[in-house]
Amino acid sequence: MMHNIDINKMNRLMEENKEAKQIISQLLENHQVTVSTIAHEIRNPLTLVSSALQIIQVQHPEVKEFSHWKQTMDDIDFMRQLLEELSTFNNGNTLHYSVFSIEHLLKNIAISFAISLDEEESEIEFSSSIPDSLGKFTGDKIKIEEVLLNLLKNAKEAISDKGSIRLSVSRKNDILSIQVKDNGCGIPSERLESIFEPFKTYKQGGTGLGLSLSKRIIEAHGGSISVTSKEGNGTAFTVKLPI
Ligand SMILES: Nc1ncnc2c1ncn2[C@@H]1O[C@H](COP(=O)(O)OP(=O)(O)O)[C@@H](O)[C@H]1O
Ligand SMILES: [Mg+2]
Repeated sequence: MMHNIDINKMNRLMEENKEAKQIISQLLENHQVTVSTIAHEIRNPLTLVSSALQIIQVQHPEVKEFSHWKQTMDDIDFMRQLLEELSTFNNGNTLHYSVFSIEHLLKNIAISFAISLDEEESEIEFSSSIPDSLGKFTGDKIKIEEVLLNLLKNAKEAISDKGSIRLSVSRKNDILSIQVKDNGCGIPSERLESIFEPFKTYKQGGTGLGLSLSKRIIEAHGGSISVTSKEGNGTAFTVKLPI
């Protein structure tokens, strides 16, 4: 794993030497393609294993009572999720641009999230404030959606049973601000620095890729993502995007 100091050295080398910049960029790109390909290739047989186990479970429901059965199914699910996130993580800064209404996208995300909470009969209160006519946005629609889903998922996971989540959006000149605020468990100050690092998780069953992927995507759009949090009180993530 490269540390910040190595990344700074690499960036300096790239700035100073055009040839080095070209070679390093190519190497980084190859590296990302390799990781994504491996993740993808492992995901395929794993999907087969998972389907086979599900068929066994349908044909022989008694297996559900076997010791370790549920744990095995959960572990396979976790591996699939990890491989999927790893694959998306490595494609995080490759954007497929289109021009779209950011207001529609955000409103649709808010509606889907509210419906999913309803379906789960969750006691979490969700509210949103998304102004009309935010304007056209040029960016990767699917990846922006991925960021919002990650932030909302984290907010939900931070609330043990009852609580509230608010999505608020505003535009000031050419900057769009999107905030996801929850009154969940909060983040201890000593962790705030590290939560955007890949594989850094403080959750049982977490992959630690959600925030690092989100940061990559937002920075690839020329934006920024920041967090304020108070342990025991709640957390607010703010995404700023040039529009
Ligand atoms: N809204 C939030 N409230 C409290 N902690 C959070 C919140 N969002 C993120 N975190 C912390 O940041 C860590 C990293 O988040 P993330 O990258 O999404 O990975 P994961 O959710 O898989 O753990 C989480 O494990 C959690 O400790
Ligand atoms: Mg997460």
